[in-house]
Amino acid sequence: MSDYIVEMKHITKRFPGIVANDNVSIGIKKGEIFALLGENGAGKSTLMSMLGGMYEPDEGDIYIRGEKVQISSPNHAAKLNIGMVHQHFKLVSDYTITENIILGVEPVKKLAGIFPYVDIRSANRKIEELSKSFGLEVDPTKKISDLTVSMQQRVEILKVLYREADILIFDEPTAVLTPQEIDFLLGIIEGLRNGGKTIILITHKLEEIKKVADRCAVLNKGKLIDVLDVKETSTRKMAQLMVGREVNLKSDKNPAAFKEEVLKVEHLNVKNEDGFEVVKDVSFTIKSGEIFAIAGVADNGQVEIADAIAGLTKVSGGEILLNGKDITNESIRKRTEAGISYIPEDRQSFGLVLDFDLSTNLALKQYYREPFAKKGILNKEEFEQFGSSLIDKYDIRSGQGIKTQVRSMSGGNQQKTIIGREIELQSSLMIFVQPTRGVDIGAIENIHKMMIKERDQGRAILLVSLELDEIMNVADTIGVIYNGQLQKIASSESLTTNEVGEYMMGAKHE
Ligand SMILES: Nc1ncnc2c1ncn2[C@@H]1O[C@H](COP(=O)(O)OP(=O)(O)O)[C@@H](O)[C@H]1O
Ligand SMILES: [Mg+2]
Repeated sequence: MSDYIVEMKHITKRFPGIVANDNVSIGIKKGEIFALLGENGAGKSTLMSMLGGMYEPDEGDIYIRGEKVQISSPNHAAKLNIGMVHQHFKLVSDYTITENIILGVEPVKKLAGIFPYVDIRSANRKIEELSKSFGLEVDPTKKISDLTVSMQQRVEILKVLYREADILIFDEPTAVLTPQEIDFLLGIIEGLRNGGKTIILITHKLEEIKKVADRCAVLNKGKLIDVLDVKETSTRKMAQLMVGREVNLKSDKNPAAFKEEVLKVEHLNVKNEDGFEVVKDVSFTIKSGEIFAIAGVADNGQVEIADAIAGLTKVSGGEILLNGKDITNESIRKRTEAGISYIPEDRQSFGLVLDFDLSTNLALKQYYREPFAKKGILNKEEFEQFGSSLIDKYDIRSGQGIKTQVRSMSGGNQQKTIIGREIELQSSLMIFVQPTRGVDIGAIENIHKMMIKERDQGRAILLVSLELDEIMNVADTIGVIYNGQLQKIASSESLTTNEVGEYMMGAKHE
């Protein structure tokens, strides 16, 4: 038998218009943590989905424990003791933990020897035991809708353990977690490995690989670049292989020089659609030349703060002042004109008109005024000139220049389009909500550079991000939010990543 518990040989998988995996061959040893590293779209999830039974390869062969297999479904994968913990959880929210875990493999008993029924009580007991034995304690009778994201992830892990997986695939498991939760999960993963399980860890975070992985395969644009021994490889080298060029992981930044106050938020309250207060008595200021970042776990009110400032959401209490002027109840357009740029979280629904071409999208916030329009008539030449100059300036790559339909562009280039357009407004306040989400490392580096350049030119910048690394890297001041309230505001130099994590979980506050 071969040394490998999993072998993928010459795997090619195509989707319409793209080769997601191009002749990839890897072998994974029993009992190792094998990391799969690559930028967004490199083909990591696709490759592993073929082990998980979601797709079958167009070309190439898969061997499990030395046997050639055609994994035709997730159930088939489970029979081969392969389990995948997905990036997006697949749990039923009004079922209990136990009901979710046993779904499809319910332990059936026969009442009076005849009538089949599901023995929930013994299932609860079994799951409690299972969860304790792996250090993943849960209350099996709780509903999924009452669980935090990290608890839901525990359930996903228990689900594959319940099915007796001994090859476990984790698809970007730490993307949704706080630093403390990440440490915990990496500990669990190491524990599973030490207990004899084989782990495949998909991630684009280099420190995580450095911490726990034994070997690491690097994918770039569907191709296998290299398989590395992690101990002997620096994170710098990994980043370089992943991106295909030298990258700067830390942004160069001059010391901040704060000037006059640009934004003042006082006692802000915001309610959500259901009438619940999601932003509670939030106050802070941002000065010219300052990057103020709001750190927090997803859905703790940070996006609502940004939306309230930009005018996308109504305020239920408090005041917003821009350059000393009260804008609390102004329209979005008035706010734009008063000096607010906004890079939204959901660039496809709110930032761009996907069916319009690039030049139109680039001028979207200025089309109604000179020089683009005179007395209500659009000037096409101005439009196109403006578009072309921005394509050069912001390195926006597109198939057909300014005529490209924005829908057909990659996520990273769509993001550059919005950022370019918003920076060109030269607003005194620029709001960035998750500006690097779904964007690869090379482009992230550029976005951070742009933000810092704008700050150095005296803009006030509000950054909302779930990526703590990003916040620690670019922010001058950090406000940590938990449950709609700012727990702490301090200069970024005075805070450690761990401290921010504690505030993010509400474990610590002023
Ligand atoms: N179901 C699908 N249909 C069409 N294209 C897909 C599908 N799944 C993935 N792709 C494309 O395949 C490429 C690789 O995607 P993926 O494996 O998800 O990358 P990664 O997990 O490394 O971010 C991307 O260009 C993606 O858009
Ligand atoms: Mg993926």
